[in-house]
Amino acid sequence: MRVIRARDYKDMSRKTANLISAQIILKPNAVLGLATGSTPIGIYRQLVDWYQKGDIDFSDSVSVNLDEYCGLSANHPESYHYFMQKYFFSHINIQPQHTFLPNGMEKNTQKECTRYSMLIRSLGGIDLLLLGLGHNGHIGFNEPSDHFSADVHVVTLTESTIQANKRFFGSADDVPRQAYTMGIRTILQAKRIVMAVSGKEKAFIVREAFLGKITPAIPASILQLHPDVWLVGDAEALSEIPEGTL
Ligand code: GLP
Repeated sequence: MRVIRARDYKDMSRKTANLISAQIILKPNAVLGLATGSTPIGIYRQLVDWYQKGDIDFSDSVSVNLDEYCGLSANHPESYHYFMQKYFFSHINIQPQHTFLPNGMEKNTQKECTRYSMLIRSLGGIDLLLLGLGHNGHIGFNEPSDHFSADVHVVTLTESTIQANKRFFGSADDVPRQAYTMGIRTILQAKRIVMAVSGKEKAFIVREAFLGKITPAIPASILQLHPDVWLVGDAEALSEIPEGTL
C-alpha cells in the first residue's frame, strides 16, 4: 500500500491522472479498469487535457468499467455508458471497440455476468484499476455484506447508496435498485489498483477501510491484502490516516 497525499481535489486528480498516464506510456496497450462517480471526473478532465496537448495517446488502450446500473440503456444520461462518453471517451482517441461496460439492458443477468467475466479474462486481466470509494465502503457496487462476492454479479443497492446517488437522478425513486459490478476477485486480480478519494465526508470510511479490520461489512478493506495499491487522496479525505501509518 502506498499513500499519495494531495493538497486538494485538483491536486488529487492530477496525481491520479499522472499514474494512469505513466501506465499508458509504459504499456500503450494497457487494459484500464475505470470507475464512475463524482470523484474521477477531475481525473478524466486532466487526462483529456493532456491528450489534447499531445502528451498522451490512447489509441492502443483498452478499458473495462467496474459497473453499470441494471435497466439503463447506453443513452440514458445517468447510465455509466453515458458518463464515460461524456467525461472521457468522446474526448480522446480510444477506439470505441476497445471500451467495455456491462450491458445494463441484458435481461438475462446470469448470461451478462458470465459474458463480462469472460471478456475481462480474454483481455488478459486489468493492468491498472481505478477505484472510488462509496460512503459505506463499497467498491464498484460491491455493497457491505456478510460475504465477499467473487466474480461479476448483480447487486441490490443499499439504501445508503441509493440516497448517495439520488443527486444524479430526479429522486431516490428514480435510482435503479440493481446494478452489475465486477466482483471482489475480479478487482483483486487487477495488477495495480489506484483508489482516488476526496473530501472530509470520506475521511471516516477511508480510515475504516485501510486501518480497520478486513471485513465484507466494509468491502474496500479487502484491498489491504492486494500487493500493489496506491491510495491517492486530498488532505481532507486522508485526515484520519496519520502520516507514517501506511
Ligand atoms: C458509485 C459507483 C462507485 C463509486 C461511488 C463513489 O456508487 N458505483 O464506483 O466509487 O459511487 O462515488 P463518489 O466518487 O461520487 O463519491
